[in-house]
Amino acid sequence: MKKIIAITRGDGCGPEVVNEGIKILKIVSEFTDYDFEFNDAPAGGEVWKVFGTNLPEKSFDTIKKSDALLFGAIGLPDLPPGVAESAIMKIRQGLDLYINLRPVKLYDVLREKCPLKSEFIGKGIDITFVRENTEGLYKNIGKLGEDSAENLMVYSREGCERIIKFAFEFAKKNRHKIVTSVDKANILNTSKLWRKIFHEMSGDYSNIETEDIYIDAFTQWLIRAPHRFQTVVTGNMFGDIISDEGAFLVGSLGMGPSGNIHPGKVSMYEPIHGSAPDIAGKGIANPIGTILSVKLMFEESFHSSEIGKKIDTAVEEALLEGRTTDIKSDSLKTLTTIKMGDLISSKLKNKLKA
Ligand code: NAI
Ligand code: MG
Repeated sequence: MKKIIAITRGDGCGPEVVNEGIKILKIVSEFTDYDFEFNDAPAGGEVWKVFGTNLPEKSFDTIKKSDALLFGAIGLPDLPPGVAESAIMKIRQGLDLYINLRPVKLYDVLREKCPLKSEFIGKGIDITFVRENTEGLYKNIGKLGEDSAENLMVYSREGCERIIKFAFEFAKKNRHKIVTSVDKANILNTSKLWRKIFHEMSGDYSNIETEDIYIDAFTQWLIRAPHRFQTVVTGNMFGDIISDEGAFLVGSLGMGPSGNIHPGKVSMYEPIHGSAPDIAGKGIANPIGTILSVKLMFEESFHSSEIGKKIDTAVEEALLEGRTTDIKSDSLKTLTTIKMGDLISSKLKNKLKA
């Protein structure tokens, strides 16, 4: 099975973690009938410095012609905010990647790295945030003046339906019992429409329980009883905030994967963290967020949940033996980015051979 993967290494620690993602893809191709072609699609701050654009046309063409995009992180401290980073918005909007999928899973072996007390963690944390990724405030409709500024929040029925449908289908596929919708329907018109559509669509999924929670209440439930959530669907801005809150529950920003997805089309997989200028070039960044993004790629773009599961187990087993500094443990080896990637690769190799 031939697949073309576009590669955006990006800035800072981006290239370091992307190399470990590629390592995993190469292991899969060695032991299965997958065959990958990797094509570079440079984007971000370093690229901007050379070409005066953060997403050269050639890169975007390469991305559009691929089956999936593996993306590191972009942003440089010596550039004004957004100069590099707006490339991400261009890709999301340009490819209509309306789903931002962010799983937040606390591995049992990392329980002690979770900032919550054990009584709040309860039976564990395994939540998938499904965030609307193309509408709402982040579409940046409005104007910036000297004395006032405005942003218009627009949600369409079509936009709400497609993201809510994806959330229910995701819950069904993963045998989740409950889908939680997060909104602000007591205040916002957009949330009133969202909630109405959520309830209409829940009728098609009678085996799945539903609940509505206001965004303000949700932020406290997420630290008070995270174990009660499975699939959580929400709009663009609320999703941005609560998925970052959730990300820290698993021990480190370096652990979190994400997918920017349009089912059946080119989708983009990236760790949730940024370019981490403070640790870039030191070879100590945690590659797991990127490796788990590759796992998402197999599940969502290539429909290979079996390979996804093997990558997940390989990560969990590796965490019992060694860790990068952000999640280090006194009783285990502290590993570099490359050695962590090697360890996970060797675990994965055994699983694919079996
Ligand atoms: P950041 O995520 O880069 O770093 C925050 C903290 O987490 C730092 O202390 C960093 O060392 C640590 N960290 C991040 N990734 C890590 C990893 N893999 N392993 C271990 N520790 C890790 O966020 P920050 O500092 O706010 O942003 C830096 C740059 O990245 C900015 O230019 C920002 O705009 C950009 N950014 C880009 C994103 C993207 O490309 N999708 C997402 C978030 C930020
Ligand atoms: Mg964010």
